[in-house]
Amino acid sequence: MASFRRRGYHAQTMALSPRNTTGQQAAVHDRQIREMFSGIAGVYDRMNGLLSFGFDAGWRRALAAQIDDQAQDLLDACCGTGELILTAKRSGKGQRWVASDFCEPMLRAGVASNGLDREVQILAADTQCLPFEDESFDAVMVGFGLRNLGDLDKGLREISRVLRPGGQLLVLEFFHVERGWMEAPIRFYLSQIVPLLGRLFGQSPDAYRYLPQSMGRFVSPRAFVEALERSGFGSQVLLRPQTAGISHLVVARRQSKVLSSN
Ligand SMILES: C[S@@+](CC[C@H](N)C(=O)[O-])C[C@H]1O[C@@H](n2cnc3c(N)ncnc32)[C@H](O)[C@@H]1O
Repeated sequence: MASFRRRGYHAQTMALSPRNTTGQQAAVHDRQIREMFSGIAGVYDRMNGLLSFGFDAGWRRALAAQIDDQAQDLLDACCGTGELILTAKRSGKGQRWVASDFCEPMLRAGVASNGLDREVQILAADTQCLPFEDESFDAVMVGFGLRNLGDLDKGLREISRVLRPGGQLLVLEFFHVERGWMEAPIRFYLSQIVPLLGRLFGQSPDAYRYLPQSMGRFVSPRAFVEALERSGFGSQVLLRPQTAGISHLVVARRQSKVLSSN
């Protein structure tokens, strides 16, 4: 496990050093998120498949299909147990694959169940403070991770920093979105059924109550595109609803001008 840490461990510690009240709140939030995922790491993959009726596998393949053919260096930030990066790697694209997450039990679960360390380079790192040089990657993917960040803009600026100009950010996410006639059944499923299944099979009903709460609090797709533009991404953004808009695939490109990470 020591190899997870390296520079990522220090990056994580720095990110948790609050500089002001907002930073303090973000740090508390990040610690709670890390503890929550530590608690469900062992059942995470099984619960994912169960709760999404297996649709999650198709969403990951949809993201993988959008990766540029010529991309060489790829990062999965907030990689969890690594299902997304492993799906993307099977596309046959890319040369160097790196997976990072700030929750070591999630990385360990990925090593145990998916052999993650045999497939890709892994390290513990906070997505809001990535331990990579500027312009290190052609593509960064984030699956259902951005919603959890204490400071979304900071995370996006950091991803923008490590991307090469023209590089891709590929995101799968549950946004706060009005879903028309689907709204009521989705709300019922998320607020009633997901916590019940979490209690029955996932050991932690609180963690599965967090999913609908965090979706409700997260930005809309339109506000997310605005956040991307503030963080150094171009305005040409692919926004594609998945499975009747339950989740969304977003693909944006880094502009050539570098923005400060602070
Ligand atoms: C819902 S899981 C998604 C895991 C995986 N990407 C997937 O698609 O299944 C969210 C992951 O984001 C990680 N995470 C949340 N905030 C993070 C941060 N600030 N830095 C790094 N990882 C973070 C959590 O530890 C967790 O593994």
